[in-house]
Amino acid sequence: MHKTLIVTNDFPPRPGGIQAFLHNMALRLDPAEIVVYASTWKRSREGVEATARFDAEQPFRVVRDRTTMLLPTPRVTRRAASLLREHGCSSVWFGAAAPLGLMAPALRAAGARRIVATSHGHEAGWAQLPAARQLLRRIGEGTDTITYLGEYTRSRIASALTREAAARMVQLPPGVDEKTFHPGSGGDAVRARLGLTDRPVVVCVSRLVPRKGQDTLIRALPAVLARVPDTVLLIVGGGPYAADLRKLAEETGVAASVRFTGPVEWAELPAHYGAGDVFAMPCRTRRGGLDVEGLGIVYLEASATGLPVVAGDSGGAPDAVLEGETGFVVRGESAAETADRVATLLLDPELRARMGARGRAWVEERWRWDLLAERLKDLL
Ligand code: GDD
Repeated sequence: MHKTLIVTNDFPPRPGGIQAFLHNMALRLDPAEIVVYASTWKRSREGVEATARFDAEQPFRVVRDRTTMLLPTPRVTRRAASLLREHGCSSVWFGAAAPLGLMAPALRAAGARRIVATSHGHEAGWAQLPAARQLLRRIGEGTDTITYLGEYTRSRIASALTREAAARMVQLPPGVDEKTFHPGSGGDAVRARLGLTDRPVVVCVSRLVPRKGQDTLIRALPAVLARVPDTVLLIVGGGPYAADLRKLAEETGVAASVRFTGPVEWAELPAHYGAGDVFAMPCRTRRGGLDVEGLGIVYLEASATGLPVVAGDSGGAPDAVLEGETGFVVRGESAAETADRVATLLLDPELRARMGARGRAWVEERWRWDLLAERLKDLL
């Protein structure tokens, strides 16, 4: 049997895009043919228990490191090598190329014949820093393939690799579960619960961090309200930027038109997308390119739900939108552009329906996990 050791810091129950990527792919591989070596979510008793509960429900074996952050230290490398031997794995998949891909030569020496490292947004950020570029170069030399999300991340990461390692890169983007995210996913019940029935709703689903641009949405709201007076901005998700965003809503005078749900359970997520008329997340690149969007699964989840999408122009986010067909791309720092596109969509039900339907069809054609998992199987 051909077995793969998946080595990753990013695995549920910790939330996030890379975690969703890894888990959805793992679920589509043969459970008898994979072993996952991952960090523990949180050190607290609650975190350890939630991690154990999650692992017990998986059809494959998950081995947790006691730390909350796996780093390519001698101890972690030894543990990965011994898992590789113990389970007879011939392939390794690093869930994120940086930094764990630095363990590749040691795992090859331990018997791995095929090593794949997946890159996300942060590897493109690493490619901006001289010291980190050297590490990426080593990761490229030690692995068989570094995968990339789209042209933005490919070109940035390739610039740090040897020509030969760059030529071995293969595209592997995340996908969407089109059966979970679909039109009619229960949005009416969420609207009713929040008292938003019959009001135009702009929904944003994401961690609350500055890059995602919930602040731009709040700053755009006065101009949207001037054109579509009853609009509500529904901000779904949790994160460190929450208090700043609430304060900004107060200062901008739009607090009454903004609802924060906080983080929601996975099972509740499709209905929260469904509660929107328009999905908007005007993400922007920060810190000189270090903090950049790799793609944005949320745009695809919104399209799968049948919503038109307003995306920011950070990194690879434009790859998740067909401009003018499934939605619009705006400059992430521009509240004026964001307001204009959002209001245009709110005022035009026909345009919304057309873009939503095109987005749904695009996800079915191009972004289904099942299709993308086949590509990963070939690589492994
Ligand atoms: N359950 C739950 N609850 N899920 C949430 C919540 C919440 O409150 N908020 C966000 N999510 C989920 C979204 O539904 C989505 O599946 C995921 O978390 C976020 O994924 P991305 O939009 O892709 O953003 P990211 O910054 O976490 O992910 C990074 O890696 C991705 C994969 O390579 C970025 O670089 C992305 O651009 C990239 O697509």
